[in-house]
Amino acid sequence: QVKIDIDRAERTEKLQGMGCKRKRVEDIRFTQGKGSYVDDLKLPGMLFGDFVRSPHAHARIVSIDTSRAKALPGVIAVLTAADLKPLGLHYMPTLAGDVQAVLAEHKVLFQNQEVAFVIAEDRYIASDATELVDVVYEALPCIVDPFKSMLPDAPILREDIQDKMVGAHGPRKHPNHIFEWQIGDRQATDDVFANADVTIKEMLVDHRTHPSPLETCQSLASFDKVKGELTLWGTFQAPHVIRTVVSLISGLPEHKIHVIAPDIGGGFGNKVGAYAGYVCSVVGSIVLGVPVKWVEDRMENLSTTSFARDYHMTTELAATKEGKIIGMRVHVLADHGAFDACADPSKWPAGFMNICTGSYDIPVAYLAVDGVYTNKAPGGVAYRCSFRVTEAVFAIERAIEVLAQKLGMDAAELRIKNFIKAEQFPYHSALGWEYDSGDYHTAMKKAMDAIGYTSLRAEQAEKREAFKRGETRELMGVGISFFTEIVGAGPAKNCDILGIAMFDSAEIRIHPTGSVIARMGTKSQGQGHETTYAQIIATELGIPADDIMIEEGNTDTAPYGLGTYGSRSTPVAGAATAVAARKIKAKAQMIAAHMLEVHEGDLEWDIDRFRVKGLPEKFKTMKEIAWSAYNAPPPNLEPGLEAVNYYEPPNMTYPFGAYFCVMDIDVDTGVAKTRRFYALDDCGTRINPMIIEGQVHGGLTEAFACAMGQEIRYDEMGNVMGASFMDFFLPTAVETPKWETDFTVTPSPHHPIGAKGVGESPHVGGVPCFSNAVNDAYAFLDAGHIQMPHDAWRLWKVGERLGLHG
Ligand code: CDP
Repeated sequence: QVKIDIDRAERTEKLQGMGCKRKRVEDIRFTQGKGSYVDDLKLPGMLFGDFVRSPHAHARIVSIDTSRAKALPGVIAVLTAADLKPLGLHYMPTLAGDVQAVLAEHKVLFQNQEVAFVIAEDRYIASDATELVDVVYEALPCIVDPFKSMLPDAPILREDIQDKMVGAHGPRKHPNHIFEWQIGDRQATDDVFANADVTIKEMLVDHRTHPSPLETCQSLASFDKVKGELTLWGTFQAPHVIRTVVSLISGLPEHKIHVIAPDIGGGFGNKVGAYAGYVCSVVGSIVLGVPVKWVEDRMENLSTTSFARDYHMTTELAATKEGKIIGMRVHVLADHGAFDACADPSKWPAGFMNICTGSYDIPVAYLAVDGVYTNKAPGGVAYRCSFRVTEAVFAIERAIEVLAQKLGMDAAELRIKNFIKAEQFPYHSALGWEYDSGDYHTAMKKAMDAIGYTSLRAEQAEKREAFKRGETRELMGVGISFFTEIVGAGPAKNCDILGIAMFDSAEIRIHPTGSVIARMGTKSQGQGHETTYAQIIATELGIPADDIMIEEGNTDTAPYGLGTYGSRSTPVAGAATAVAARKIKAKAQMIAAHMLEVHEGDLEWDIDRFRVKGLPEKFKTMKEIAWSAYNAPPPNLEPGLEAVNYYEPPNMTYPFGAYFCVMDIDVDTGVAKTRRFYALDDCGTRINPMIIEGQVHGGLTEAFACAMGQEIRYDEMGNVMGASFMDFFLPTAVETPKWETDFTVTPSPHHPIGAKGVGESPHVGGVPCFSNAVNDAYAFLDAGHIQMPHDAWRLWKVGERLGLHG
């Protein structure tokens, strides 16, 4: 028996399947500088494009003169809206049902908006020529503050749609209004608030920021005039959707469009949408018949392609005096910038903001969101989150702390008192979601024990007394966040993009020798898909992960999928992978039965083989079965061993986590130091614990950035203030705190392997945890809610406001 057990353990280990800390296979090329990114691609005769951009946030275009630019040696063409208009391409559809100018026609609506596209022999000539395009502007008053957007005398921004009183998401109240979205029981919620013992109301701002991946957005279009075929390489998180959109807007048949997303250097939502650069490189190549490349620079990336957040959330909670939350009411003013280019599933104009009841059993709630136009860059992407869930979690996790303070209760105790209980799952939230599984009390207890919560509070009480006595100038904050995410968009009944249901796919082919190629409709941007999908297949099919090659990103070879964002790869394509593998396994069982001359029902699966029940020495390994599938399949069974699955998830998955942050703040400098940060994540079944840890580290680092300094700010003229890494905080290893990670496992009941997504959880849970730590540090001084970002200057100003500087 011992020998058999050792043998089984060795066979299992050899697979490097689920649960194993398999090293990332893609890192072999990344760490040697051998990744292949869009800008590494060089095609014969390739030209380069660059944009002329508006210096104004709001201005009329009086004239555009391209003659000086065209005269510069090496310049091949200069495109303006006048060139695109006859092709119907001066506007492009956005994912949110709006249209966005590809090149500005009569007006510019945000600083750095695209006005003309210069195509030249090299990048430098193109850049020089942009300065030779003479554009005469007539400046107009601009709107930067979303609260002024719908004032009666506000300048009308979108003249192209000013008479359209019904938009993609219903009636518009003002020419600068985009939509109003309401959900929940308004009357019942108002009634609860009218009679509650205790209520709180706070304006919580999740400020404008940017995903800022290291690699900017880029594309390379190559049109073959003879074949009428377009090949488009680009930084696409969703290559198939890009192919469909290109077909719809260009009129090229979809089968003549080949979209390829090679290696991608981070996406975080920035690479979901369609941008003017993609369209212009395609048009340039179709018109000129040679390849045209477009590569954004850092300032262009930060100031034009996709912002995140900019949610102004009036958040209210109602509770009994014992601390039972009985209602939640939220109004969001959402600043969408100049065009509604938010990347959300079509039916969700405010994404999944209605997950804002969080991890708590709140009986009634009402949420209303108003989207407005301002003179800022468009976008509204899910920066490392699932469609506004970061905003939602920030609202509830800050609000619950404000409530705890008003009730005079401990913030952890208030959370525990209101948690949805393990036996309440599947749980139906007041705002319409069905949470699949959770065990919040267990996770919270584990986290509190690990961080030593009680002694931290005791230490904090002593420090506060010492501060009051003038013995220290340091404040100590304990930040808590207990978040519930909603990832894996999603079920066709409520999730589609431009009418395409948000399924995903996997195709697995086993070769005669037993090695495998598998392709998915998703696209890794650094998450390690080549490593982890192989682990799912390894466990399901008993083939070592090292014998399995994963390929994504080529629309000619990969099955159609909706791409990678919103932590949907594992919940959707991961499920497709398991289901496709199980189809193969079912066929393999038939082949094995034939080979062993037994009935299928007499076989049982054992790690990497089918064996005859009760006769373990009679077996066929998956490798042997693969050979037989091509060599001598059973009669009436087609040869080969492959399967494809398009997986439409029955529900989202709901990962959760308990985060604690201990922070020390020097009131005289405003410098905040993170002493400890503990993150417990529950993402259901864990495929690769090492990759999960890496995802958590990355997500927490971005949460730290957003909470503690990162911001895209505008001055009153609409000048963007955060458009370079001099001004936009991107933490390096020097600033980044040390992370402590932990986990519990509560599998998803509807996912084939019980896995939930994890890539974004740490960001979603991390932002409020940092902000709560800062707020908690100042709470005993009656500071009121302190808005993010919490950089040293702003915290110093808090000290000044409170008269702490002597
Ligand atoms: O969609 P995206 O890849 O950004 O997010 P994800 O599905 O949360 O996966 C991020 C990475 O974590 C992938 O490499 C997953 O395979 C891995 N992961 C895991 O090992 N176990 C889980 N339960 C969830 C994700």
